[in-house]
Amino acid sequence: MRKQILALLFASALAAQAPEARERAAQAAAGLGRVLMELLGQEMARGGYEGAVRACSEVAQTVTEEFAHEQGLEIRRVSLRARNPKDQPDEWEAAKLRQWEKEYKPGQPPPEVFEVMEEDGRRFGRYLKPILVQPMCLGCHGPREKISEAVRQILDERYPRDHATGYRAGDLRGAFSVTVRLAEK
Ligand code: HEC
Repeated sequence: MRKQILALLFASALAAQAPEARERAAQAAAGLGRVLMELLGQEMARGGYEGAVRACSEVAQTVTEEFAHEQGLEIRRVSLRARNPKDQPDEWEAAKLRQWEKEYKPGQPPPEVFEVMEEDGRRFGRYLKPILVQPMCLGCHGPREKISEAVRQILDERYPRDHATGYRAGDLRGAFSVTVRLAEK
């Protein structure tokens, strides 16, 4: 009986926490998106695609890690066709991305996902938000023959197993993935 009441209390606490966690995750994804787009814009203005690809390859990971640290949550970018092997999705992310790929119609971005899950007695909210390819992304993610020689060289050198070319505008590029800790049982 006591156990049941505790479980109930916890369930309602969790229910109250979940929308808050979802909101935090959504804010973080939007925030990281802004930070990275700003960085990309600055570097493009300074050095065009060639300068920007160099800069992105050097700082994208650290900028993402610092942002996660500041926000006190886990956040990263993932893709089924990752450029950086560190951006490969885990099982949950990969399943959602594959589902999106199946259901996706260009121009209709799939809805973001938020799920509460438990691992080793700890509860997490996991959030995934789609990232779509825009025309300006193609200089580094488009068909290889459309990417400038200079950019291609840098990509080949730094990402010998690059899977992130050959996209068209409107394609699904990947996702922002956020994990937020919820209260303990
Ligand atoms: C100037 C070149 C350049 C442009 C333009 C560019 N990217 Fe990238 N992108 C990169 C590089 C380099 C990486 C790998 C960064 C790293 O090593 O962490 C990357 C990685 C990513 C990733 C992480 C997943 C992966 O494949 O590793 C996503 C998602 C992504 N880009 C989306 C976009 C989108 C959306 C746009 C357009 C709004 C865009 N990119 C424009 C160079 C570019």
